[in-house]
Amino acid sequence: MLNLQSPTSDRWFAQVDAGLDEVLVDHAHCEKKAASVAMNLLFSYVDHVALARAMTEIVVEELEHFRLVLDLLERRGIPFRKLRPSSYGQRLHERIRRDEPGKAIDRLLVAGLIEARSCERFALLADHVSDPELRDFYRGLFESEARHHATYVRLACECADDDSVRERLLWLAAEEAAIIAEGDPFPRMHS
Ligand SMILES: [Fe+2]
Ligand SMILES: [Fe+2]
Repeated sequence: MLNLQSPTSDRWFAQVDAGLDEVLVDHAHCEKKAASVAMNLLFSYVDHVALARAMTEIVVEELEHFRLVLDLLERRGIPFRKLRPSSYGQRLHERIRRDEPGKAIDRLLVAGLIEARSCERFALLADHVSDPELRDFYRGLFESEARHHATYVRLACECADDDSVRERLLWLAAEEAAIIAEGDPFPRMHS
């Protein structure tokens, strides 16, 4: 359903155990970034009304997630701060084609794959962490990120014939699996 080609490795769980606070701060940045990705798509393709409506909904939801993570950080006394991001998003964006309609398709599919990986990791964190508040928190986010993934893939399929979009999704998902397997040496939501 999520179109991911690899499961998260044990290496990441070790990073989470060593730096959960940093993962939480990074999570807030990821929600903010997710809102900005949807906003940028809205601005780029504003005459595609179905896309514009879907992006509007996602922007609102991601900003609400951002607020929820900020609230969680505050309750825990963890200061929100600037953080060096993982290389994951940047490396995926380098795979996006330059010319339309490939560019639109890739932007939507990359956004969809990032949602899928976030969704997978929220589900894993909900089982992995022992804190009941955090477990509920991650469980509460899982469903909307799965829905965002499906929305992005559906919109990409509207930009070209289904088979070519599916083929591109398989290729990008393989790239995503390779990028996340390499990861980063510091704890992040997508390290
Ligand atoms: Fe979100
Ligand atoms: Fe999302």
